[in-house]
Amino acid sequence: MAHLFNRNILLGISGGIAAYKSAELVRQLRERGATVRVIMTRGAREFITPLTLQALSGNPVHTELLDTEAELGMSHIELARWADLLLIAPATADLLARLASGRADDLLTTVALATAAPLLLAPAMNQQMWRDPATAANMDTLRSRGCQVVGPASGEQACGDVGPGRMEDPQAIAAAAAGLFENGLLAGKRVVITAGPTREALDPVRYISNHSSGKMGYALAQAAIDAGAQTTLVSGPVNLAAPSHARLLPVESASQMLDQCLQLLPECDIFIACAAVADYRPASVEQQKIKKGPEQITLQLVRNPDIVATVAASEPRPFTVGFAAETTALLAHAQDKMLRKGLDMIVANDVSDRSIGFNSDNNEATVLWPGGEQALPLTGKGAMARMIVELIAKRLDSQ
Ligand code: CTP
Repeated sequence: MAHLFNRNILLGISGGIAAYKSAELVRQLRERGATVRVIMTRGAREFITPLTLQALSGNPVHTELLDTEAELGMSHIELARWADLLLIAPATADLLARLASGRADDLLTTVALATAAPLLLAPAMNQQMWRDPATAANMDTLRSRGCQVVGPASGEQACGDVGPGRMEDPQAIAAAAAGLFENGLLAGKRVVITAGPTREALDPVRYISNHSSGKMGYALAQAAIDAGAQTTLVSGPVNLAAPSHARLLPVESASQMLDQCLQLLPECDIFIACAAVADYRPASVEQQKIKKGPEQITLQLVRNPDIVATVAASEPRPFTVGFAAETTALLAHAQDKMLRKGLDMIVANDVSDRSIGFNSDNNEATVLWPGGEQALPLTGKGAMARMIVELIAKRLDSQ
């Protein structure tokens, strides 16, 4: 069964009789491991109460666009960025029309415009409304923009008609949602990803480290798994659960991370260096806790090995991807880093912007490779990881 672990699913419910089935859909999505938030249109609330969806999803239900209280919590833009998938079930004829014409007249349609996440629609309506040329034209428009569609099923309808227009079963919708995240882009490839910070010991109880959360590396591991890769995470200390199906090899220092990566090299087709490796470590590690002494002390630091550069210089070498965290001249510094370290690709982040990178859930980046580049828009780290994996697969194909 395709899973949805680590996936944020934003479920939009519009106002049709099938809305009652969305309660079961929330259960099905959660059973597959997804975190679910629900947006309900005014019409949906005539059929089923927000309280039901709140209880089943375990999260407050979002209903209003122009509500200062709601915007103080998770604003429509935050919801749009949070989502790995916007699933609308049921999608009524009216909702499809509003989506097709790009309206933003309630919370759901606004979020649909504001999100970079894929959109999956489960239409539900009377069979004649489904067959109407206006609905058919709206569906064509939405499909041509890349929307995915599940259903509708055929059969007896709530109104007594028989024909196409019934919302697909919740189980089939949840399976379609999970299926969207699975692709064979890196099928059979062996991917090693470094993630998180390193800790460089000063004495038995102290260390030098940084604020890296590991979120980007772990999201990349999930994206690589979804792309069919055998995935190994060489991770510094973080507070994250490794995606199921990933092999997790925990390390602490840069030297341990390098040793672990070099051991893995014979079984590695793609190496992604996402870790925030400490550039320096204390010249010596005291055996006993350093006691308080003079007013000032000087720490002597020595350079750590450059893990990604070492991997890129090995023979045979995997397709090697690095990250560049910069505060100035982003693209120039990243380009220079790619050449200096001998990389096949580099993901450049502007870390002067506190809303992205390090501890944030979002990221914005430009991916560079010899002879090309692509800007990736501000989005959740899950969606960003999938875009990076797609670019890696494309570059591998063109080699
Ligand atoms: N990296 C590495 N080993 C190191 C330092 C960095 O593998 N000892 C990798 C990171 O995982 C990242 C890339 O190198 O993929 C760039 O890291 P960054 O800290 O931006 O670059 P530095 O080489 O440290 O350069 P500078 O500090 O001068 O910007």
